[in-house]
Amino acid sequence: MTVDDKGPALELDEAARPAVPTFEVAAQQRNGSRHLRAIHEHHRRQLSGLKKIFSDLERGDASADDMVTAAQSLSMTDNLRRFGTLCGQECQALVFHHQIEDGAMYPQLQRSEELKAVIDQLMAEHQVVHAQIVALWDATTAFLEKPDDPTKRRELGRAIERLQKTVLSHFGYEEDALLDAIDHFSVAI
Ligand SMILES: [Fe+2]
Ligand SMILES: [Fe+2]
Repeated sequence: MTVDDKGPALELDEAARPAVPTFEVAAQQRNGSRHLRAIHEHHRRQLSGLKKIFSDLERGDASADDMVTAAQSLSMTDNLRRFGTLCGQECQALVFHHQIEDGAMYPQLQRSEELKAVIDQLMAEHQVVHAQIVALWDATTAFLEKPDDPTKRRELGRAIERLQKTVLSHFGYEEDALLDAIDHFSVAI
């Protein structure tokens, strides 16, 4: 993880991830891991939805040259509003999810010596996600001010792609590393 004067890195360092320790879990111990999986699934869906609305906006823009109808511009306005709302909600919800992990879930797991390095890595990854959320929100604000500007649209598209890729990778590593540990140590989620 490289951190420079400008703040946290904007890219994940997947090569820095420590190996994942294994933990025994009895079937009746399965509990918290299901909850974490469901929370992650919700965020995966929200990020896909965000990307979908953005694609609709791009498509709407592409067809605008051919035939600009009242219906089209209404749906564009509606999509712009939906995009801004969903983006704001999902950015906030992701920050909140990571705050809970940093403040409540990780401390319970840090009691395990074997998990200390993994938790340090996951916390560092939260910093990267957070920096990308800030960048996405800046790109969104700039785009909503000037939705016809192709540069702003391209930058927003890149910011969405990057955040989705990073979050999916982070969730994947977190689940590999922690799902069994959560149930083994009966961590409340
Ligand atoms: Fe996390
Ligand atoms: Fe998580």
